[in-house]
Amino acid sequence: MPDRHDAAATVDACLREQEGKELLRFLTCGSVDDGKSTLIGRLLYDSKRLCEDHLASLERDSRRYGTTGTGQLDLALLVDGLAAEREQGITIDVAHRFFTTSRRAFIVADTPGHEQYTRNMATGASTADAAVLLVDARKGLLTQTRRHSHIVAMLGIRHVVLAVNKMDAVGWDEAVFARIAAQYREFAARLGISGVDCIPLSALTGDNVVTASAAMGWYRGPTLLGRLETMEIASDALRRPFRMPVQWVNRPDQDFRGFSGTIAGGTIRVGDPVAILPGARTTTVSRIVTMDGDLDSAVAHQAVTLVLADEVDVSRGDVVAAMEARPEVADQFAAHILWMGEQPLLPGRLYVLRLGTATAGAQVTELKHAVNVNSLEHSAARQLGLNEIGLCNLALDRPVAFDPYRENPQTGGFILIDRMTNATVGCGMIGFPLRRASNIHWQRMRVDKAARAAVNGQKPCVLWFTGLSGAGKSTVADLVEQELHRRGRRTMSLDGDNVRHGLNKDLGFTDADRVENIRRVAEVAKLMTEAGLIVLASFISPFRNERRMARDLMEDGEFLEIFVDAPLEVCEARDPKGLYRKARSGRLPNFTGIDSPYEPPEAPELHLHAGDHTPQELATRVVAMLETRGVI
Ligand code: ADX
Repeated sequence: MPDRHDAAATVDACLREQEGKELLRFLTCGSVDDGKSTLIGRLLYDSKRLCEDHLASLERDSRRYGTTGTGQLDLALLVDGLAAEREQGITIDVAHRFFTTSRRAFIVADTPGHEQYTRNMATGASTADAAVLLVDARKGLLTQTRRHSHIVAMLGIRHVVLAVNKMDAVGWDEAVFARIAAQYREFAARLGISGVDCIPLSALTGDNVVTASAAMGWYRGPTLLGRLETMEIASDALRRPFRMPVQWVNRPDQDFRGFSGTIAGGTIRVGDPVAILPGARTTTVSRIVTMDGDLDSAVAHQAVTLVLADEVDVSRGDVVAAMEARPEVADQFAAHILWMGEQPLLPGRLYVLRLGTATAGAQVTELKHAVNVNSLEHSAARQLGLNEIGLCNLALDRPVAFDPYRENPQTGGFILIDRMTNATVGCGMIGFPLRRASNIHWQRMRVDKAARAAVNGQKPCVLWFTGLSGAGKSTVADLVEQELHRRGRRTMSLDGDNVRHGLNKDLGFTDADRVENIRRVAEVAKLMTEAGLIVLASFISPFRNERRMARDLMEDGEFLEIFVDAPLEVCEARDPKGLYRKARSGRLPNFTGIDSPYEPPEAPELHLHAGDHTPQELATRVVAMLETRGVI
């Protein structure tokens, strides 16, 4: 990999050489088996590439080359995209190959698996103009081909080139090609992909990649490179309304305050009126500052710093938008999600959503259906597994500004991140905002939590008992509550078995149901703290994620996690309800500790070794903790 200096010099050389050439970005879909690497290698080699870089090694200093104007080569864009990604803490092993011909410059995003889509979702900087889908002529269309087509359609990529590879292995047979091409056209039409080209080729021999094949005289169409050189490049980004997600507030000293970001659509001119969303403040642009000096106007893809005429409050994640054509602002929307996590997407679980430069907590409130990538049929689903696509309603913990994905992929695409592992687990495309929760405000009540707590003469809190079934959670909680009661404290207990007779009687023990169980119970516990009560909640609550969600709902210091830790052997030997025996004999599926996981707390407020002590001893320790913490 070239070092920073070399890379910058290479880019410099390329830029000078390529000035004025049109740039086409495309991505390739297909596996190594289909010959993807060979094909890219062939394109690069045969087109006598002028330079090729692993752009990930480039540093910000490439920025100084600035922009060259619309539709022309601008390597800085790529670098900006990568910088934005890095800033977001997403590490994606993406190799951008850059090559040129006499007619055009090309950037191909060559990434393993789903990362190319994540990348497209994660940064607005790299939306592809075209996708080259590879199939092996011997195998024809596979589930993977259909899935990739689906994603390509969702990403709004207009041109698909179906490269039917390994034609040499089928004796250059026209009938084989014709059959695959016909099948694909039919499938693509159902997905709404209109611009499809099918090209028979061999990456291995080079037939129809760059030079026309002598072996397939029956084919009259263009070569792959020929097609890439002539397809129309959409200039949609410029026609869209102006959008700039604020990446950072640039305030070097008292005299200067600007808002920096990459323009995600449209054009901005000095003097243009703008709105800052989601807050809806309005002002006008007084300066457009860049590394190369001030501009009168700037367009999509350019990285700029806007100075505004008025002192308005703007922060990272806000969107500066055309006053007359504002984005949507909502905290709920419907979106297609492509799931990439090893663990399934569970409705109700809290994830981190990143949309442009904004971040919010997000839950899927409803999984409307999953999409079968082969038949395109919709099916009911309670969770989404790896590689699955579904239509979901999402609720965020605060409103954000966005556009429907089809109107602007850069302000309508998002990613979901697992809060515990920080891994990117999904990418999504916003369909439309949901208005249901609008017109609902917080009613301010005169009698509030503090007032209620004062009458009770206590500090409200939640004692959250977690542990295996049979560990003794309910028993200890009951003893603690009796003691609190003796001392005149106001308490309420919430217990797994009991709540499942009423509020949660619709829930079972799948992962998804356990998530929902804890979500509801945590909300109820929160209401009870607002009633000024000491709440004792006893739930297996096997997942760290949901215990953390419950903790985050409460005020600091209010949530006291008590790990009732008894070894599985002990719980199983006790087996107070005979459930372990049932589970072992296979009559009770998804039983915690047997065939459903339990994730022990990492830093509970109190860790009780429940195998070695009597419930009374354990209860005494809980009460002692409450005294130490000044709760009672
Ligand atoms: S949680 O996992 O969703 O937090 P919760 O605490 O509400 O579980 O309910 C656990 C109680 O339900 C157990 O104490 C046990 O009596 C009963 N139960 C029935 N089936 C199961 C199961 N498959 N796994 C665990 N507990 C079960």
